[in-house]
Amino acid sequence: MTTVERPLGAPEIGGIGHSVKRHEDARLIEGQGNFLDDIELPGMLHMAILRSPVAHARIVSIDTSEAEAIDGVVAVVTGELMAEHGLAWMPTLSGDTQAVLATDKVRFQGQEVAAVVATDPYVAEDALELIVVDYEDLPVLTTPQQALADDAPVIRDDKEGQEGNLVYEWEAGDAVATDAAFAAADRVVSLTTHYPRSHPAPLETCGALADVNSVTGQATIWLTSQAPHAHRTLFAMVAGLPEQNIRIISPDLGGGFGNKVPIYPGYVVATAASLLLGTPVKWIESRSENLISTGFARDYYMEGELALNDEGRILALRVRMLSDQGAFYADAQPTQFKAGLFHVVTGSYDFAAAHIVCSGAYTNKAPGGVAYRCSFRITEASFLIERLVQTAAYELGIDPAEIRFKNFIQPDQFPYETPTGFVYDSGDYPTALSTALEEVGYEALRAEQAEARAEGRLIGIGIAHFTEAVGAGPSRQYDIAGLKMIDSAELRVHPTGKAILKLGVKTQGQGHETTFAQIVASELGIPVTDIKVEHGDTDNTPYGLGTYASRSTPVGGAATAMVARKLAAKARDIAAHLLEAASDDIDMLDGKLFVRGTPERSVTIQDVALAAYTNLPAGMEYGLEGVHYYDPPNLTYPYGSYIVVVEIDAETGVWKVRRVVALDDCGVRINPMIVEGQIHGGLTEGFAMSSMQWITFDPDGNCIGSNFMDYLVPTAWETPRFELLHTSVPSPHHPIGAKGVGESATVGSPAAFVNAVVDALAHLGVRNIDMPVLPDRVWAAIQAASS
Ligand code: CDP
Repeated sequence: MTTVERPLGAPEIGGIGHSVKRHEDARLIEGQGNFLDDIELPGMLHMAILRSPVAHARIVSIDTSEAEAIDGVVAVVTGELMAEHGLAWMPTLSGDTQAVLATDKVRFQGQEVAAVVATDPYVAEDALELIVVDYEDLPVLTTPQQALADDAPVIRDDKEGQEGNLVYEWEAGDAVATDAAFAAADRVVSLTTHYPRSHPAPLETCGALADVNSVTGQATIWLTSQAPHAHRTLFAMVAGLPEQNIRIISPDLGGGFGNKVPIYPGYVVATAASLLLGTPVKWIESRSENLISTGFARDYYMEGELALNDEGRILALRVRMLSDQGAFYADAQPTQFKAGLFHVVTGSYDFAAAHIVCSGAYTNKAPGGVAYRCSFRITEASFLIERLVQTAAYELGIDPAEIRFKNFIQPDQFPYETPTGFVYDSGDYPTALSTALEEVGYEALRAEQAEARAEGRLIGIGIAHFTEAVGAGPSRQYDIAGLKMIDSAELRVHPTGKAILKLGVKTQGQGHETTFAQIVASELGIPVTDIKVEHGDTDNTPYGLGTYASRSTPVGGAATAMVARKLAAKARDIAAHLLEAASDDIDMLDGKLFVRGTPERSVTIQDVALAAYTNLPAGMEYGLEGVHYYDPPNLTYPYGSYIVVVEIDAETGVWKVRRVVALDDCGVRINPMIVEGQIHGGLTEGFAMSSMQWITFDPDGNCIGSNFMDYLVPTAWETPRFELLHTSVPSPHHPIGAKGVGESATVGSPAAFVNAVVDALAHLGVRNIDMPVLPDRVWAAIQAASS
């Protein structure tokens, strides 16, 4: 096996590889967290937003007079007022435009139409009901297929030159080589599937508290933001405020999962209201507002075809994808890649040719495209390839595990360039899958499945072996709205040897305050408990693009290791001075700096820290601090083998999960306990998406799924038990060999759950059931197969 674990340092230092308990938890579980809605400022006003009840309509008139007359209402803001300040529309992170408050039309149910600012949040809510809007209904388009029909009305007629509802067309790979491989294939296997709309649904909804000082022009904005620095720059660009006067503070976040990456109209209106009124204004969404109007994820209609030879070797992949973007193209994704990193759809397999054609359409729905715990559309890609390979196994009569072993990229092929241009850094896929198969007892399960089938019982074994591409990204290819996707860390060691680490990334519950301190602990030997981690306040931390797409460890973690190494180099020089030796002869281990070969001639990192401010060699600059901006040379490519075992009740279609075995490889694990927590969370979300979560829309564009009674979040009761395994093949280009892991399980597991259900029915000829795999869909598939 190619697993390489980094040697563990001393437990009292608590560096990389130790399951250090999360520093942030004491504060969070004892009610000392500081979330947006906890923050109160003197004279603060409250804002509530009026949202469109209809999905597509022309606004004939808005009458705010009754609302304005209520006691406690300070102002009613409409699109017209915003337009007077040039703020009725704003740019999106994908280079589109989005209405801040509607002026001409509403284009989805839940769109922002007006806002009330009042002395009390309840008065603001009550006043919304007194605003009278006259809507003239327009035809509603709820699917991209409807939207691209010849006679479809143009949803974005606000955009000059926009003739239909097509948002983009984009392709990757080589059409000619792919066509040639298909022409030469023995077999072609296809699958059409829809990855439905889902919602990140963080427990804390989105909000802003804006405090713009009319005298100094200083704008302090507390924001539920996964990317505070990027948001600051975009606020400066949109609102024309000088960037040095904008301070974004992203306080404790109650989850983000991609939902807190976009800039929402509420943020802009609250800031504008504070600017106009000269008082702090707070806005925080209700649960339903969050579910109907903020960024949705997925909604990809996918058709995939595999060309194979008779032995089951894949020769080529062809994919057509159509995405439902909603009314505004607001994805936050790298500018070059219109469908995010969907072109990683070739997955874990070695073949020469692929061609991917992607298009997106405007519809009368809230904006989609949020990378919900996902590196820019990798979840959809991983789902498609893993469902396709499973389908090919049935069509060719090859075991689903066997077909994967036949086609895996082999360990000696890394670095491996895929036909769509990714260069996978490292991996050992055969070991991962065989380890997981052994753990689950695959052969015995297949035998049990055959016996059960003979008795009319349904058992299914679903496999998914995913490869992710995370850590966006190298500046040569990756930017969002022109901002290169680098990240940074600033480290200061104080005279007493205690340190403060400041990050461009921003935790939303992933444990950065612990794991990033562990990186410093390993590099410098300062105990992890002596290191404070700061993040989220743009006045106090160095620039970065933020936390999403599992980029924190690959980019921010690398920056942390690099800045610690800069300090380690200076620490060696200082130790050499103190020990009267040459810097090159100084070694460091567990917080001791000693002369190579004579370990008794040593000083501690704490001695060195004090000397950095008191006793330096001539000419050396005082202090022990630095900053590093990291531009990753490549993405990192974590992977995993997931196996799900289900039993289905043929009478009702209800399925129950018997086992989930999940093997992950994220290279070097900084904190195994936190990594396992991330995987538990991701598996739970994958289970939810595949089994129960569904946001749908009726033909009038009404969102069905606007609360937690309709959009189901699994509790401990429904969630299966997870059996976790790991291998550890380091990333060769990451300073500590780590790859991202935060989203691995959300990406990899939906296909494993669906594959398990389909596997139980494969002998009946069932090849696909779209997510969510609800019992009635399973039952209908069984009925259709038996008739
Ligand atoms: O960007 P995000 O924090 O969501 O994802 P990540 O970089 O994959 O990290 C999620 C959490 O797992 C962080 O606390 C990481 O530092 C930790 N992690 C780890 O301990 N070892 C790894 N190889 C990767 C992540």
